[in-house]
Amino acid sequence: ASEQRQKQVTLSDVLEKACDAYKKHLKSSHKAVDYLKGRGLSGDIAKQFGLGYAPEGWRSLASVFPNYDDPLLAESGLVIASVDEGSGEEKRYDRFRDRVMFPIRNVKGECIGFGGRVLGEGTPKYLNSPETPVFHKGRELYGLFEARHALREHGYVLVTEGYMDVVALAQLGFPNAVATLGTACTPDHVQKLFRFTDSVVFSFDGDAAGRRAARKALDGALPYASDVRSVKFLFLPPEHDPDSYIRAFGKDAFARYVSEATPLSRFMIEAARDGCDLNTAEGRAHLASNARPLWSQLPEGALKRQLLGEIAELVQLNSRELSEVWNGPAKAGK
Ligand code: CTP
Ligand code: MN
Ligand code: MN
Ligand code: MN
Ligand code: MN
Repeated sequence: ASEQRQKQVTLSDVLEKACDAYKKHLKSSHKAVDYLKGRGLSGDIAKQFGLGYAPEGWRSLASVFPNYDDPLLAESGLVIASVDEGSGEEKRYDRFRDRVMFPIRNVKGECIGFGGRVLGEGTPKYLNSPETPVFHKGRELYGLFEARHALREHGYVLVTEGYMDVVALAQLGFPNAVATLGTACTPDHVQKLFRFTDSVVFSFDGDAAGRRAARKALDGALPYASDVRSVKFLFLPPEHDPDSYIRAFGKDAFARYVSEATPLSRFMIEAARDGCDLNTAEGRAHLASNARPLWSQLPEGALKRQLLGEIAELVQLNSRELSEVWNGPAKAGK
């Protein structure tokens, strides 16, 4: 009797089945293969990341899921169920149509969602799975499962902004790359990464958006920047992301950016100093005020102590005086 017990079908089973279907569709789609080739991707790397293609039809998935109305399909985010306001009728259709598909896996290797890119121009450029019981953008990192062994071998992780960055870097010699999923890097992301490595190198586009993203990543990383860990920030030239940069200039040029990445300590001070005129008492005071919320997030230790000293020097106080400015006078007897 127990053998007859039906295996519970899960969201992950549904997503895995769709992943296989998308992979099969890619094999027979000239335009999707041409698109990927045009982006410089090899067949091997596409296979390694399980890239696929979602065909054009509104209900392509019906050929893999005979019961298209199964609530699991909508729950998985693969199918959109929308109620027509006029007629009250419910319509169901595939979320991903005519897109190159990037399966997103959790650290156990289970498919938990997708990113889908239009072939060429079109909006939105990327369509992602919605938040579901198994998919949380603020916690998951694209490529972490695929990169897990390389992280140990290379000793650090490269954190990029995009799917294409991860795949291109892996193809051209940096299999230790991951990407946040169209969101800022969160403390949860950083905490997860430090379970796999003790060295994180954030890679940002050299544009204004990249600078803003770096500031958010700094905030996410500060609480985890312990004395035995390393956090660095790499800024590519404006107009480049890791994919376009490494394809234009090659592996060694990208490796130079990695080796010259800015340590968190320097980036934190630069961030605090931004816009402050250190030739005036006001500017120095402003720096001290900017630095406080950053510095105070650091875990206790030698790094935190040294940075107190560095900031104090910049604002022409000693460490004890700066500490008093920030925390009030030290209690008597202490
Ligand atoms: N992104 C998204 N939705 C969009 C645009 C971007 O979710 N409409 C996310 C994707 O994860 C994307 C990342 O933000 O990979 C970075 O965006 P962008 O730099 O614009 O895209 P690229 O990854 O560089 O894409 P491509 O090289 O294919 O143009
Ligand atoms: Mn599969
Ligand atoms: Mn950009
Ligand atoms: Mn790109
Ligand atoms: Mn990009």
